[in-house]
Amino acid sequence: MFTAEMYESIKKVEATREERMKTEPRRMTAEEKEELLKTYHPDYRADGFEEIKVGPNKGEKAPKELADLLHSNSILLTDKVDLSKVDYDCDVLVIGAGGAGCSAAIEANEAGADVVIVTKLRIGDANTMMAEGGIQAADKENDSPVQHYLDAFGGGHFAARPELLRRLVMEAPDAIKWLNDLGVMFDKDEDGRMVTTHGGGTSRKRMHACKDYSGAEIMRNLRDEVLNRKIPVVEFTSAVELIKDDKGQVAGAVLLNMETGDYLVAKAKTVVIATGGAGRLHYQNFPTSNHYGATADGLVLGYRIGAPLLYQDTIQYHPTGVAYPSQIFGALVTEKVRSLGAMLVNKDGEAYAHPLETRDVSASAIIRECANGKGVDTPLGSGVWLDTPMIEILGGEGTIEKRIPAMFRMYLNYGIDMRKEPILVYPTLHYQNGGLEIGGEGFTKAIPNLLVAGEAVGGIHGRNRLMGNSLLDIIVFGRNAGKAAAAKSKDVVIGEMNIDHVEAYAKELEAAGLNTGMTSPLLLPKYARHER
Ligand code: FUM
Repeated sequence: MFTAEMYESIKKVEATREERMKTEPRRMTAEEKEELLKTYHPDYRADGFEEIKVGPNKGEKAPKELADLLHSNSILLTDKVDLSKVDYDCDVLVIGAGGAGCSAAIEANEAGADVVIVTKLRIGDANTMMAEGGIQAADKENDSPVQHYLDAFGGGHFAARPELLRRLVMEAPDAIKWLNDLGVMFDKDEDGRMVTTHGGGTSRKRMHACKDYSGAEIMRNLRDEVLNRKIPVVEFTSAVELIKDDKGQVAGAVLLNMETGDYLVAKAKTVVIATGGAGRLHYQNFPTSNHYGATADGLVLGYRIGAPLLYQDTIQYHPTGVAYPSQIFGALVTEKVRSLGAMLVNKDGEAYAHPLETRDVSASAIIRECANGKGVDTPLGSGVWLDTPMIEILGGEGTIEKRIPAMFRMYLNYGIDMRKEPILVYPTLHYQNGGLEIGGEGFTKAIPNLLVAGEAVGGIHGRNRLMGNSLLDIIVFGRNAGKAAAAKSKDVVIGEMNIDHVEAYAKELEAAGLNTGMTSPLLLPKYARHER
């Protein structure tokens, strides 16, 4: 159901549709993109950022909300824990039970390691579960990992760490095969070949999908595999601090039982941080497509123990979050909607940009249209149209139900039939391009037996990520981290455990004049209700 003003604008969208469909808008030049990003992308809004005052990235900038967490003390500065009472003792401790954490746990278990997963919510409560559009891999005759590399490197503004991106694209075909063998039901044609589509910034159709619930289908299989292997999963239990030993190694983590408030100690020869993203920090007041637990916990844990961040100042705003209806404000409208042919159109019915520019460019162009009065007013702001009836015209009747059934149903719940009417979108906080810095095997640069995988890593994608490369990186780097952690754990002997870094960090904060009284990691969004 739209408002009367919205219906007026829809008439213009319909009136221009036939003409628009004859000629796609041209792609922007590099100069046009640069100008657009500088003027409209939230990463360029100085007031959204703050200088980091302590730790390895001191002097660099971070989103204000993340800087606040980095400028906070550990809860263990005041709460005391007896480290001699060990509750879990394992080779590999995986923090986080999304796609990266489960992939790591499966491979570590496969290598014979004793693995424990801890997760503050339930297994699978993660951004992986929310992923819709698909996973990239160059596994068709007209494509190659080199082509995939070039697309992703350019899309990321040539800032990706070459050794990480190389690994991502080279191991992509095997990641698809691994998932397919686990039982993931990818979209296939009558001959059993995977159906692949374009994403923003791709030069070949290499997006493999499970309709528009690709992440949920992948997560379903990973979760089953973890459970089938009987890998222990400690749910509703957060890691609140990493533990070190007297040799400077990581030695495990202090855990918090989210239900009872009790602390637990997990001792481990290697630790894999796989805590995911930060959307629930709502940078610059953006809504988010992220799951409830996306609060940058791993970044805080790693940073406080001395692991540097990389590109923490670059955030991905997915161009098409729901702008209307308000009940689902900020929810993801998969890029696949544009891959299938829907154009982005302003309130006057003009297609103002190519629908498959890279995400940062597309998001900036939407923000520009709305800032210049070309957006459609909504109760929570404004948005532009995504002309979804074009999908049925281009692909034939039934395409929407067949290819994006979840999206179709989500809108139908609110009386909007996207086969017949366009939908309103505006950028939503989707992904942290930055995170903890790693080498090719997943080890952090500063701590020899601490690894990171998934969205908590910085540097794989550079300063902007292409669609479908995140589902891919959680598998590639999750699996690698699991294998590397299992191998490393054979050589590690844990010494005397301590959390001296908590005190040292507090002193650094004090010296920098920071006494916010806040503690981190945040664990749950600020608006969480804490009822016991
Ligand atoms: O648009 C999407 O379906 C999101 C995909 C991604 O972030 O990779």
